[in-house]
Amino acid sequence: PLEKKWIAISLAVVGLFVAIITLDALFHGINPPSKVETIDSASLHLSTEFAEDKLGVQTDAQGVITVRMVAGRYSFFPKHITVPAETPLTFRWVSMDVLHGVHIPMTNMSTMIVPGYVAEITTTFPKPGEYPLLCNEYCGLGHNHMWSNISVI
Ligand code: CUA
Repeated sequence: PLEKKWIAISLAVVGLFVAIITLDALFHGINPPSKVETIDSASLHLSTEFAEDKLGVQTDAQGVITVRMVAGRYSFFPKHITVPAETPLTFRWVSMDVLHGVHIPMTNMSTMIVPGYVAEITTTFPKPGEYPLLCNEYCGLGHNHMWSNISVI
């Protein structure tokens, strides 16, 4: 009888999780990404978007700010960027070699950078300051030296 009770509790918990996922999908619009952008990691330097001279902060005619960065053993390129506070920023990352991650401590910004795919996050820095941008996926012996800086002004 005790086992049956625990089996019932386990099934109830699973049922609760399924219910939460279903409700989120139906009413909060929380779904797996529907648009997966692929990119050829080996020829980034030839790409129209992630060529060396296209990296960093760019503002389009409508004032929309996009930050493009390339992750590679063992740095992010560019090493330093400057962006405005209280302004929506769309970050787009690609890897030139292996799996990396990007994490900005004290913010909600964290994503994996999977080779062959574009990782995109839109965020806003609420206040000015110096923010480190760290790799948080083990990518090799230089992993712990892989970082860049963001100046938010
Ligand atoms: Cu790149 Cu760890």
